[in-house]
Amino acid sequence: MGILEGKVAIITGAARGIGKAIALKYVSEGADVAITDLAINETVEETVKELSAFGTKVRAYASNAASFDETHAVVGEILAEFGRIDILVNNAGITKDGLMLRMDESQWDAVINVNLKSAFNFIHACTPIMAKQRSGSIINMSSVVGVTGNAGQCNYSASKAGLIGLAKSIAKEMGPRGIRANCIAPGFIISDMTKALPEKVREEWVKTIPLRRGGTPEDVANVATFLGSELSSYVSGQVIHCCGGMTC
Ligand code: NAI
Repeated sequence: MGILEGKVAIITGAARGIGKAIALKYVSEGADVAITDLAINETVEETVKELSAFGTKVRAYASNAASFDETHAVVGEILAEFGRIDILVNNAGITKDGLMLRMDESQWDAVINVNLKSAFNFIHACTPIMAKQRSGSIINMSSVVGVTGNAGQCNYSASKAGLIGLAKSIAKEMGPRGIRANCIAPGFIISDMTKALPEKVREEWVKTIPLRRGGTPEDVANVATFLGSELSSYVSGQVIHCCGGMTC
């Protein structure tokens, strides 16, 4: 029996990368999973096929996580289909890097809306359901740069720091209703997002990691599985760094 048997999870931005790895780990541990992404395309269909092989209920939904109205609508659809919501993984994220002196307003707004407001949207829609159940686990996908800051990523770092403040506040506010909220702060994870970086930058980055390798989406998925499961039943308001020792 898997450690997520009987649980229903929503994972945002799960067509590929870290979100997909979390979805795969969740279904392998017995969870029913609703994945969301911007559109239902071939990538999403392939992901659903892979997830469905584990025999639990899997559905994909097209929804822009940055939209308050779309989020409320999709959470309503998911509740109607699955009957409950036990785990919410706020994973959808983008980068639009640039130095502050060259950053325009649209770069700032896009990153804050997709990375931070999306988590507010989903938490706003899911917590009334979790409160009725008197249980729930919320996981915000932050980043080590949300803790340390990073030159060229003021918008991204601010959004990721905001996710930490959001999770800590929800942990305090909703703890009495049985809802836990935590963050994962991944370091350098090999995914489509980081594959876009020049080879030289990636090599230099790896030298700063005590474990001397980039992380895998599966490394992050293991932490998300712990936080989604009852193994972490007394863990709330925390940030778990998954970074090979990069920020210790
Ligand atoms: P990715 O770019 O491979 O996947 C992100 C997914 O989110 C994509 O499927 C994309 O279509 C979806 N998405 C983007 N905007 C969306 C929106 N408005 N609504 C719904 N879905 C949307 O990225 P990756 O690497 O898998 O990252 C996942 C999360 O982990 C992000 O929040 C990222 O910031 C975070 N992270 C990643 C790190 C890395 O090294 N890859 C390090 C630290 C954090």
